[in-house]
Amino acid sequence: MRWARMLRLRVNGEDLEVDAPDDMPLLWVLRDVLALTGTKYGCGIAQCGACTVHVDGEAVRSCVTPVSSVAGRAVTTIEGLSPDRSHPVQRAWIAEDVPQCGYCQSGQIMGAAALLARNPRPDGAAIDEAMRGHLCRCGTYARIRRAIARAAGEDA
Ligand code: FES
Ligand code: FES
Repeated sequence: MRWARMLRLRVNGEDLEVDAPDDMPLLWVLRDVLALTGTKYGCGIAQCGACTVHVDGEAVRSCVTPVSSVAGRAVTTIEGLSPDRSHPVQRAWIAEDVPQCGYCQSGQIMGAAALLARNPRPDGAAIDEAMRGHLCRCGTYARIRRAIARAAGEDA
C-alpha cells in the first residue's frame, strides 16, 4: 500500500481528514479508522453486498472502492442514513421484521435506499434486479422484498 497524504473525506455529512493509503478499501477506512462498524465485511470481492454504502447517492461496494476515489465526494453509511432510524426503508424494515442474524442487513438497507432514491416506485422486477447482488445467508429475501414495496408505498 502507498502512504501518500491526508485524504479529505465527507462521511455522513462530516468533513474529515484521514491518514490512510490511497488504495486502502473504503470499507477498511470506515470500520478500522473511523469506527463506523455498521457496514460489514462479507466477501471482500464485490460479490455479497454486505459492505454497501452510498457515494454521491449511488450504492457502491466499499470493499473494492479505493478510499482515494471518494475524496471530495459524499459518503453515507448506515449510521448516516437518517439521524433517528426514520428513513422510510428503516421504518419498513422494522414493520416487516426483516432481519434474522442481521449481518447482511445494513448493506441490504443501503441498497434498497439507493434503489428508491432513483426509482421511487419500483415494480417487482426492478426490486429483484436491484437487490440481486445482495446475499443473505439467512434467506430473508421475501421480507426484504415486502419491506421495499412498503417503503415505496410510504413515500407516496
Ligand atoms: S464485502 Fe463487499 S461485496 Fe461482499
Ligand atoms: S439476516 Fe443473516 S445474513 Fe442476512
